[in-house]
Amino acid sequence: MSSQQTTQPPCPINLDNSPLVDAYCKKTAGSIVLAKRARKIFPTGITHDARYIEPHGIYVTHADGSHKWDVDGNKYVDYPGGHGALLLGHNPPAVLEAVQTQLGKGMHYGASHELELEWGERVQQLIPCAESIRFNNSGTEATMLAMRLARANTGREKILRFQGHFHGWHDYVSGGFLNHYDGTAPRGVPVGTAQTILHTPPNDLAAAAAILRGSNDIAAMILEPTGSTWGQVPIQPTFLQGLRELATETGTLLIFDEVICGFRCSPGGAQQAYGITPDMATLGKIIAGGMPGAAVVGRRDILAGMDFRQAAQDGAEKIFHMGTFNATPTTCAAGIAALDIVRDTDVCQQAIDYGDALINGLNEMFTAEGVAWIAYGTFGGFHVFLNPQQLATNRAEIEAGVHSYATLKAPNDPALAMKVRLGVLLHGVDIQGWPGSPVSTAHTPEDREQTIDAFRQTVGLLREEGALA
Ligand SMILES: Cc1ncc(COP(=O)(O)O)c(C=O)c1O
Repeated sequence: MSSQQTTQPPCPINLDNSPLVDAYCKKTAGSIVLAKRARKIFPTGITHDARYIEPHGIYVTHADGSHKWDVDGNKYVDYPGGHGALLLGHNPPAVLEAVQTQLGKGMHYGASHELELEWGERVQQLIPCAESIRFNNSGTEATMLAMRLARANTGREKILRFQGHFHGWHDYVSGGFLNHYDGTAPRGVPVGTAQTILHTPPNDLAAAAAILRGSNDIAAMILEPTGSTWGQVPIQPTFLQGLRELATETGTLLIFDEVICGFRCSPGGAQQAYGITPDMATLGKIIAGGMPGAAVVGRRDILAGMDFRQAAQDGAEKIFHMGTFNATPTTCAAGIAALDIVRDTDVCQQAIDYGDALINGLNEMFTAEGVAWIAYGTFGGFHVFLNPQQLATNRAEIEAGVHSYATLKAPNDPALAMKVRLGVLLHGVDIQGWPGSPVSTAHTPEDREQTIDAFRQTVGLLREEGALA
């Protein structure tokens, strides 16, 4: 794909003359009022690009377990799950109790405290590469810091990234997720910054090897180890192993961005699930039990670049890193409670099993309905390939990496993808827009049946209005 090509949906999406959209609007009249108000406050009326829904999204009043409710009193099975942070669903009692116990003891000490040690020790116990840890507030901050640490450790400037992989929104990674796959600078990003990032296709070891062996200035490579958008474009374990070997051979650091797959693929993340240890990893979402929190973890000698004493001893400039809200006590309390459950129970497997059963149920229904859509996913969630070219393929082939990111991510019919989202909302299910979502341990067999039925009803409505063959 060139810089002109994009997998980002165009705007506005034409949703005119759609009874499905009309029914959604009728059901969400209160949200329409709030969406109009929001457009006077926020660009597009939203506070996160992934919450962009046409003609408007739902406005939520509260959530519990696997459900949330909107201002019109509609109840939804909730899959976005705090953008993947809520492996345990909404309000897991142990996490809630830990936060409630901490509230009233001070929101922020502006000093060190024991809870941050306990949180860090949990992360060290669980994540294989976590010899040393620095907490921060978001996955974006974590990937930015990991890149700085890699550059400092190796004395090299460039970072190799994989087309379509998501690492947050900072300047180094804004290009290459939805567009600018050729390394050109996205609007607002300095050309010089963009030029420090090299782009290569996922699952192409020869291409990565040629770049890594052809330069002595690549500090690190960063990737989502389960594949772009956490498995929407699956990565093969042999590719990961190949990257590990190339990293060692070329002195390039390997960074796993486990912001979403950490504590989800397995208690020790993708690195434990695959038995491949990166030099550094970035963690977020589940790590903080639903509060804002993230971390860079990795080899002690790499993170030691931030250590005052070590830097002085080495005669090196200490790597600068701050963060007002790093490891606040309430975040630590939530994180400890969530990670204890991850460590001591089989929650990761529960979510994986639910996701698998949902995928099987969806595919049976798609086959019965005669639509070419395919559900897939292996890590406690699901993705639905809308298959605009009607390819004769299946779940196993997609998961085996037969199709490229350009095929699996291209929203060839953005109106259809948006209507799918609105259609399932209309039937009481909220998913992410690609379409797909992580799942949680709070989801029940009834939720699964409702989700399959919501997709079935949506297929019917789309056919009635001629949007689907
Ligand atoms: C793999 C990955 N990296 C980085 C990020 C960015 O994290 P945050 O939204 O906390 O900045 C995300 C968020 O979805 C992610 O999934």
